[in-house]
Amino acid sequence: MENLIKPLSSDSPMWDMWLSMYHLATITVADELGLFKEIHVNEISIDQLAKKLNIDKRGIEALCNVLISLGFIKKEDELLKLTPVAETYLIPSQPFYWGNMLEQLKKRNEHVSLISVLKDNSYLLSFDKKSFSKMWEGGEISPEAAEAFTHCMHATIFAPAVSAVKSNVFKDTKNLLDMGGGSGCFSIAYTKEYPGNKATVFELPVVCHVTQKYLDKFEIKQEISLFAGNFFKDAWPRKHDGILFSQIFHDWPPELCQELAKLAYEALEPGGKVFIHEMLLDQDKSSPLTTACFDLLMYINHRSQQFNQKDLTNLLLNAGFKNPTLTKTFGYYSVLSAIK
Ligand SMILES: C[S@@+](CC[C@H](N)C(=O)[O-])C[C@H]1O[C@@H](n2cnc3c(N)ncnc32)[C@H](O)[C@@H]1O
Repeated sequence: MENLIKPLSSDSPMWDMWLSMYHLATITVADELGLFKEIHVNEISIDQLAKKLNIDKRGIEALCNVLISLGFIKKEDELLKLTPVAETYLIPSQPFYWGNMLEQLKKRNEHVSLISVLKDNSYLLSFDKKSFSKMWEGGEISPEAAEAFTHCMHATIFAPAVSAVKSNVFKDTKNLLDMGGGSGCFSIAYTKEYPGNKATVFELPVVCHVTQKYLDKFEIKQEISLFAGNFFKDAWPRKHDGILFSQIFHDWPPELCQELAKLAYEALEPGGKVFIHEMLLDQDKSSPLTTACFDLLMYINHRSQQFNQKDLTNLLLNAGFKNPTLTKTFGYYSVLSAIK
């Protein structure tokens, strides 16, 4: 079986380019909400600001973290303050206010969708008016939505998956359970790197049909099996010495991630390892800018988040895992592993 080669260059510029669509939208949305004006009147905490603007606190936090990263506001002792550029150009009563230009920019799709999701507490990622989060939780998703989503995920995650495998994080693992494995991108990279090892992709039944197409394309036969189920409702397969969650924790609120970590602990063989593959925020959660934008996108898509190392480590320790170890694997991506 032919091995895969590591991508020749980092994919960070691709992520920067894609998620930059939220740079402008956070400014126009903040302008429309009156966020800069509120901070101008009084230095204020995220909690107070959320109450004043009548927007969910997590939504305001995600928005503010992008604005901090862009350099328009700053946080000191938990209070938000404007930077000189925001004081000068983003306050309506000031002579150099950019308001008329910002009004024009409020016609852009990112502005329209971001403000409506923040105000209505609705979800951006949906199909036929049903949110992906609700469909995923119930295990019901249409074949068209499953197909379109899985192809997009494969396009963005295959390079980080191949690179993570090549960084040796799975070197001691012989039988990997790939939870919500999508196209099978990780399992394909893993079994090609380690001939003789086995992987199981656990996916919703409708997605398994799409996964099978990728397995066929990469000429995978016995090395990878498919397990069709709902990881919140169905019993997990046993006898694996590694369980991987690639971009699964960023889809769910922390309490459900904690539940998944607990289920992984129960399902693993003693000495087995859990692996979390995610784009991590820094300790302050407002950098790197691209990850802060991804965090905002996860909030509007699923009411979820990107994590920092500390929060993710605590989830694993609370589930009973030991020796959490972080490996920076590719671009913005890392794998946090821990042992049962
Ligand atoms: C963000 S994608 C990640 C895909 C892949 N792991 C990757 O990194 O490219 C989340 C995946 O979780 C799967 N998923 C969502 N809810 C699920 C559930 N309840 N049970 C099993 N899989 C689920 C989705 O079908 C989707 O493929």
